[in-house]
Amino acid sequence: MDIFIDSADLDEIRDASAMGLVDGVTTNPSLIAKVGRSRDEVIHDIVEVVDGPISAEVIATDTAGILAEGRAVAAIHENIVVKVPLIADGLKAVRTFTEEGIKTNVTLCFSATQAMLAAKAGATYISPFIGRIDDVSGEGMELIQEIVAIYENYGYGTKVLAASVRHPLHVKQAALVGAHVATIPHKVIHQLLKHPLTDIGLDKFLADAAKQGQ
Ligand code: E4P
Repeated sequence: MDIFIDSADLDEIRDASAMGLVDGVTTNPSLIAKVGRSRDEVIHDIVEVVDGPISAEVIATDTAGILAEGRAVAAIHENIVVKVPLIADGLKAVRTFTEEGIKTNVTLCFSATQAMLAAKAGATYISPFIGRIDDVSGEGMELIQEIVAIYENYGYGTKVLAASVRHPLHVKQAALVGAHVATIPHKVIHQLLKHPLTDIGLDKFLADAAKQGQ
């Protein structure tokens, strides 16, 4: 499973990239707002750090606006993936982007049928939001499982990008059910690598080495 970092914070992206585990980056308007810079400024910086798919989300909600905004942001770098909301105008734009060779990430997916439509429109990635479904007492992971199965049944080329990941278990389960990608916040990336037995074991090794004067 590919690992993307779900962040617009350059320090976070650099930190995770330095461990060699960032295959790509996803951003959204809320993440961009958190860093207090414009989307395009942030995207220009991210492409210098990560050589992989970088999702930049459009703000427009009509097809013409999405196309204009998406083409402009895609022109920044060949790795840009235009992130488009899962609405009718969005899917119309996705179809055109696909014909033009522009990659897309269809976002705000909350049902398997929405995911089918995005695949038929030619989306490069579909982003089902696990955590937000869990937040309303749903089973976010079941949605990932359903979409993976449906895409396999019909050979859709769209990749399943598990989004709205909130904790390490989401990552493990997404990998088990066959998501192609998980986009993970920086904090969760660090949670993934921590294990108390690793820390205890390291402390013991260092203490034993010190006793021997190593
Ligand atoms: C990523 O593409 C999504 O925008 C993001 O994972 C949403 O996460 P949230 O539900 O934690 O805001």
